[in-house]
Amino acid sequence: MKHNQYILILNGPNLNLVGSREPGIYGSKPMLDIIDDIMAAFPEKMEYRQSNSEGELIDIIQHAASEGECAGIVLNAGAYTHTSLALADCIAAVDVPVVEVHLSNIFAREEMRRRSLIAPVCVGSISGFGAFSYHLAIRALLNLADEKEA
Ligand code: DQA
Repeated sequence: MKHNQYILILNGPNLNLVGSREPGIYGSKPMLDIIDDIMAAFPEKMEYRQSNSEGELIDIIQHAASEGECAGIVLNAGAYTHTSLALADCIAAVDVPVVEVHLSNIFAREEMRRRSLIAPVCVGSISGFGAFSYHLAIRALLNLADEKEA
């Protein structure tokens, strides 16, 4: 990844509550600790944003893509994964690669969670490894960025 570039970690609705929210599914480590661990694990520049609002997530992605310094986006869209055509349209519209992540294995859960509207427009999807899903997604984006530079 070029020195001026960064990776955006973007969380959607209710992911700010991870730690106390349904710990049997999402674990008991608070999301901000998960993010701190990521920042400590990677020397590359990372930015973290979270929003509970669909429109704001779209604004954040559009803005990051328009600046030209965002090498990729790790997106946990929460429940919007399963419902938001607007978010899927946004990901399809921008040039920045987006990796879909989930803490839980969405394919092992209720029927409605097994469908992702954003998966077809993401470069790839990682689901089911808890906080490590984010690490894997970052590794994938860094690899993509290096391939692009080579
Ligand atoms: C989630 C899975 C979604 O189905 C759910 O709505 C979430 C979290 C996950 O990380 O496992 O909010 O994206």
